[in-house]
Amino acid sequence: MRLDKFICESTSLTRSLAKKAMHRGDITCDGIVIKDAGFKVLEGMQVCLDGEQISLVGERYLMLNKPVDTICSSIDEVYPSVLSLLDIEKPETLHIAGRLDADTTGLVLITSDGQWSHRITSPKKDCGKRYLVTLAEPVDESLIAMFAAGVALKNEDALTKPAMLEIIEPQLVRLTITEGKYHQVKRMFAAVGNHVVGLHRESIGKIELDSDLALGEWRYLTAEEIASI
Ligand code: URA
Repeated sequence: MRLDKFICESTSLTRSLAKKAMHRGDITCDGIVIKDAGFKVLEGMQVCLDGEQISLVGERYLMLNKPVDTICSSIDEVYPSVLSLLDIEKPETLHIAGRLDADTTGLVLITSDGQWSHRITSPKKDCGKRYLVTLAEPVDESLIAMFAAGVALKNEDALTKPAMLEIIEPQLVRLTITEGKYHQVKRMFAAVGNHVVGLHRESIGKIELDSDLALGEWRYLTAEEIASI
């Protein structure tokens, strides 16, 4: 990799600031001052800025407990993007694996790894997303079989894929779905004449929202969590 690109990808410096740092003699490779932006950084080479070693960030994976009135878009719109809650370098290299509505809380996975997030969002991969749902109307046991068989959503041809419903209380349920259609949970309950008044995502695949994270807090995923997807 070219030295100027290496510096940009491993620090918050822009290409022009990286070049200025090189011209000042602030960059060394294996102890030798390098001023040539096109210098090739080889595997295992020690690159330092002001005497401190810098290294490529690599792929990043994190979980966030999303509060209401934030959006799962990469830019701020009516509400701020969840990415604005991350006190982290280079947030622009990250994307959100499976969106939540502005009024939904809970687990959001954020990564720089597009192949990994595809395994979460692709309906073909059957990755379950579990929600805690508060409802306006009570439900009865018959809904378990209806959701397992699939329901017809407004403006959709195909039935929803089998979903697992657990009734905790008549107006508080857990629903696990493997798709991520627009407003899917709200539309599934609307399809059976009910209305979602509170929605919280508890898990994605085997990754459970960390109960130590307050709303708006985040942490990096463990190697085990990353490998589980
Ligand atoms: N389904 C919804 O309706 N909203 C969400 O935020 C997530 C799933």
